[in-house]
Amino acid sequence: MAPQPGYDRPIGIFDSGLGGLTVLRALHRRLPCEDLVYFGDTARVPYGTKGARTVVDFARQDAGLLISLGVKLVIVACNTASAFALDNLRESLPVPVLGVIEPGVETALRATRGGPVGVIGTPGTIGSGRYQEGLVHGVADLPGIATERIVTGECPLLVPLVEAGWEDHPATDLVLDTYLEPLRAAGVDTLILGCTHYPLLKSQIAAHMGPQAALVDSAEALAGAAERLLAELGLRRRDGLDEGGLPDGRLEYHLSDIPWKFAEIGARFLGRPITDVRTVSLEEMEAAGHLPPKG
Ligand code: DGL
Repeated sequence: MAPQPGYDRPIGIFDSGLGGLTVLRALHRRLPCEDLVYFGDTARVPYGTKGARTVVDFARQDAGLLISLGVKLVIVACNTASAFALDNLRESLPVPVLGVIEPGVETALRATRGGPVGVIGTPGTIGSGRYQEGLVHGVADLPGIATERIVTGECPLLVPLVEAGWEDHPATDLVLDTYLEPLRAAGVDTLILGCTHYPLLKSQIAAHMGPQAALVDSAEALAGAAERLLAELGLRRRDGLDEGGLPDGRLEYHLSDIPWKFAEIGARFLGRPITDVRTVSLEEMEAAGHLPPKG
């Protein structure tokens, strides 16, 4: 599609904290010339153990902040926020909104070989039932699967273990063993990593699950979906060029708090040091939550 007005604006990505940097990283790898603006709600993380109403309120503020920064697309990198707030954001935001659940479900439905499909995530994500609904209903041209084929697991302890840099610690090994045992016993052939932090544990999870289980990294799945959506809408930055390459896009970070060990944790999620960080006050966040009427 021909370039549409606004194709050269940045893509906005938000998460409850720093975990969504795994999504930013996947996006930057796939769409290197796009400018990316990240907001992490580090002052109020975690979302995964909070109730639906709080998560929706926070997500509206996070998305509102990105809208105020002029983004052309909002990406909800946080699985918990995607589970609770995606419909609300799609109804109220003036730009397209993409969450991690649909791309993850689609990738899993393509990958499964007829066996059980597993989903692991925060208590909020699993409790919301959104991954399960997506798997049952199917997406695009893919039929859904029977409820009996879905096995889920809440894994709240993995978030702090990853943040502590304990990916290879024996404690994490024990926690993974405990969480993954029922999924392994069920013989899942495909496992959705339904949380921003789990891509950092991919090799450890693979070792626990065995070679028969294909792992679906929702960050990678989302980056592919974002590329397709931007192309469909004529909003890829490259669409505006006659020829020649563009330099690498700008990466910009906004956080509601600078947590202890922020630089170290952030670099681990992103794979490179974080520079150019602005802090956003909670007053500013609340004001951003008053989204202008759509249209
Ligand atoms: N970003 C969250 C998710 O993907 C994990 C951290 C949290 O609980 O806020 O669900």
